Amino acid sequence: MLHKINFLTAGESHGKGLSGILEGFPAGVPLSEAFIAADLARRQMGHGRGGRMKIETDYAEILSGVRHGKTLGSPIGLWIENRDWENWKADRMSHTTPLEPVPEVTLPRPGHADLAGMQKFGFTDLRNVLERSSARETAMRVALGAVCRAFLKELGVEIFSHVIQIGPVKASNTLTNLNADTNACADASAVRCLDEGVAQKMIAHIDETRKSGDSIGGVFEVLASGVPVGLGSYTHWDRKLDARLASAMMSINAMKSVSIGDGLDVAEASGSQVHDEIVKDGENIRRTTNHAGGIEGGMSNGEPIRAQVTMKPIPTLAKPLRSVDIKTRQPGSAHKERTDACAVPAASVIGEAMMALILTDALLEKFGGDSLDQIKAHIKASGVF
Ligand SMILES: Cc1cc2nc3c(=O)[nH]c(=O)nc-3n(C[C@H](O)[C@H](O)[C@H](O)COP(=O)(O)O)c2cc1C
Repeated sequence: MLHKINFLTAGESHGKGLSGILEGFPAGVPLSEAFIAADLARRQMGHGRGGRMKIETDYAEILSGVRHGKTLGSPIGLWIENRDWENWKADRMSHTTPLEPVPEVTLPRPGHADLAGMQKFGFTDLRNVLERSSARETAMRVALGAVCRAFLKELGVEIFSHVIQIGPVKASNTLTNLNADTNACADASAVRCLDEGVAQKMIAHIDETRKSGDSIGGVFEVLASGVPVGLGSYTHWDRKLDARLASAMMSINAMKSVSIGDGLDVAEASGSQVHDEIVKDGENIRRTTNHAGGIEGGMSNGEPIRAQVTMKPIPTLAKPLRSVDIKTRQPGSAHKERTDACAVPAASVIGEAMMALILTDALLEKFGGDSLDQIKAHIKASGVF
C-alpha cells in the first residue's frame, strides 16, 4: 500500500505502448531520459529471454513533470513505445473492428492468467486477458522505479540485486560487501549471479531446460543500503515496511514468495542463531549481524535491507501442457506465444524498481517535504541519517 506517492501504468503487451504516471513525487530531483534508459536496458538482459527482447529496445520518453533536467513536483508522465505495434495494429490489436475477423485464442495456458481472466470478464478470446496480464507491463514499473532511484540516490540510498538460484542451482545468498560495483558485477553476468562458477551452471541449466521445451524459475535478492532508521511503523498493519515490500514484490508477475533477511531459513534455526545482537560501538549502538534483513518491528533499523523473492517457472511452454478449448470444450495443447524460458535475471531488476518505489514512499512519509531541498533539510534536522 502506497501512502505518499501513487503510480499507475496502462498499456497492452502488443498495443501501441505503455504509459505511466507517478504522482506525489518531490520537485528538484535531477532526472533524465538517459538515467531511466539505463535501468530499462538492465531489465532486457539475461540468459533465457525470448525473441521479444530482440525486437524491443525500451526507451521511456518523459511526457510531463520534468523541466530543465529537474522534476517539478507535478505528476511525472512516461511513455514507452511498443516497437512491435506496427505488426499488430491493423488486425490483432486494432482499436476498431478489423476488416477481416481475427481468429480467437481459446486454449488457456496453465499457470497464466488466461482461464481465470476469461471466466472473470466473460471473454471467449484469451488475448483479451494475456495482453495486459503479460509482464510487458513491468517495463513501465522499471521506468517509474528509476525515477525513484534518482531521488534515493540524492539521499545516499542505493538499491542492488543479484540472482541466487535458478532451478536447483544455488549461489550463496550472504552478500555482505555491498558497494558501488555490486550491480555492475551482477549486470556483467548473463544470469546476474555474482559467483561466476555458479553462473555457468545456471546458464547450462537454462539451456537444458529450454532444449526440452520447458521453463525454469529461481530466486533473486534485492538489497538497499543507506536506508535510515525508522522507515515504516509497527503502529499499524499497513505501515509495516516488510509488509509493504512483500506486497510490492509479490505484485510482480510470477513471484510466489518473498522473505526478508534470512527468510525461510529462520524456521529451522533457534532464536540465538537468528537475532542480531546489539552492541555498543564507541558512542554508537549497532548490531553485530544482519539476519533480520534491515527490518525489525516493521521498521528499517539502519542495516541494509534484504528481500529474497521466489519466481515460479514461466507458464508458456514450447512443449505445452494439456488444456481445454474454451469454445469447443475439446481437449488440446495450451496456447503458445513467443516466450522466455527463464526471466529471473530480468525479474531481479523489476524487484529493484519495486524496492525503490516503496522506499521513496516510506521516506516521504517519515520526512515530508515538497522539494528535494526541503526533504534534505528535514532529514538533517531529524538527526536520523
Ligand atoms: C520479466 C518477466 C518475464 C516474463 N515472461 C514471460 C513469458 O515470456 N511467458 C510467460 O508465459 N510468462 C512470462 N512471465 C510470467 C507471467 O507474466 C506470469 O506468470 C503471469 O502473468 C501469471 O501471473 P502469476 O504467475 O503471478 O500468477 C514473465 C514474468 C516476468 C517477471
